[in-house]
Amino acid sequence: MPGCGACASGDATADSQISFSLATAGGKKGLIHMNIMQQDILQQLEQLQQDAQTALILATTTESVRDWYSEYLSRKGRLTAILRNLGNLSAEERPLIGKVANEVKSALEQALQERQAAIAQAELDAIRSAESVDITLPGRPQNLGKLHITTRALRDIYAIFTAMGFQIYDSPEVETDEYNFQLLNMPEGHPARDMWDTFYTTTPGLLLRTHTSPGQIHAMREYAPEPIRVILPGKCYRYEAVDASHESMFYQVEGLAVGKHITFSDLKGVLINFANQMYGEGRKARFRKSYFPFTEPSVEMDIDCVLCGGKGCPVCKYTGWLEMLGAGMVNPHVLQNGGYDPAEFSGFAFGLGPDRIALQKYGIDDIRYFFTNDARLLDRV
Ligand code: DAH
Repeated sequence: MPGCGACASGDATADSQISFSLATAGGKKGLIHMNIMQQDILQQLEQLQQDAQTALILATTTESVRDWYSEYLSRKGRLTAILRNLGNLSAEERPLIGKVANEVKSALEQALQERQAAIAQAELDAIRSAESVDITLPGRPQNLGKLHITTRALRDIYAIFTAMGFQIYDSPEVETDEYNFQLLNMPEGHPARDMWDTFYTTTPGLLLRTHTSPGQIHAMREYAPEPIRVILPGKCYRYEAVDASHESMFYQVEGLAVGKHITFSDLKGVLINFANQMYGEGRKARFRKSYFPFTEPSVEMDIDCVLCGGKGCPVCKYTGWLEMLGAGMVNPHVLQNGGYDPAEFSGFAFGLGPDRIALQKYGIDDIRYFFTNDARLLDRV
C-alpha cells in the first residue's frame, strides 16, 4: 500500500495488514484542520479496519469469507455505510477522508483476495488428501474370465481332429430344405424328417439347419473329386421342448472323410482315437446299429461312462454307457449328390454334440446352465 496522504507512513505490510493511525493521519495534514465530523469518520474507518482484519482471520471457509464480504465491503456493508456520511462533509473536507476510505477499501480488498486464495488452496489440499490413493495398499485381485465350457470342448475337438488331418470347414446356419433334407436322402414327405423338429422361416424352402450334416454336401461340392477330410462345427436349431438335456440351439460337429478305399475300420479307428484323446486313454467303446438316411450302414457310438467308469450312475442313467455320436458310411446317393462317383469313392461321416460331451466330461446335469449366464458354471472346469 502506497503511503497514504492522511498517514505518515502508509505502511501496509506485504501480508496486507492495513494500518493507519488517526494521530499520524492528522499529523501530516495537521490535526488542527480536522473538524469533529472528519475525526469521527476517520475513527470509524479505523475501527472498521480493525474489525475487518480480525474477522477475516477468523473466516476460514468460502462461506464465512462471503459473509465477511457482505458485512464489510458490499454495497450494504459497513464501509459503504461510513462513506455515505461523506456527503455531510464540505467539498474541502471530503478529499482527505475519501482518500483514506479508498485506501482502507483497497487494502481490505487485497486482504480478501489473499484470504480467498489461501482458503481455495486449503480446500483443494483437503480434497486431495481425502481422495488420494494409498499406493501401499495391496491391490484387489481381478477376476479372470474363462472360456465357455462348450468353447473349450470345441477347441479340444478341433485339436484332436486337425491332428488327424481333418480341416475345419464352415457352413451356413440358415439352410435350404434341399441341403438340410433332400440332398441327404430325405425328399419331401420322407418319414425320417420327423427325427428333426424344424424351425422354418417365412421364406418357403428356407430353414434353420437342424444338424450340421448339410455341410457335408457343401464341402463335397467344393472339393469333388478330390479326397476330403473335414470337420464342420456350428450351431443347430430345433423346435424342441426344452429340458435338462435338450435346448432349441445347440452345437454339433460333423465329420466327413471321402476318398478311395475308405472303410468302416477307418471310421472306427478315427472315432476310438478321438474318444481316447477326449476322455482319456483306455476308454471302452461300443457301436450299436442305427439308422440315418444319409449313411449306410449307420451306427451310434457309446463310451463307458466317464463318471462311474461303467458301474452305473444318474448321468449314464445306470446303463454304464454314454451315447457319444451318430455315424456311418456315406450313403452312395449322398456321395453322388456331393459330386463323387460311388463306384469309385466311399466315405464315412459322423455327427457329435460338443455340448453333450461337455456335460458328460464336467458332470453338469442340465444343459440350460450353458445359457443362463451364471459365471459360477465356469468354475466347474
Ligand atoms: N445329423 C445327425 C443328427 O443330427 C447326426 C449324424 C448321424 C451325422 C450320422 C452324421 C452321421 O454325419 O453319419 O442327429
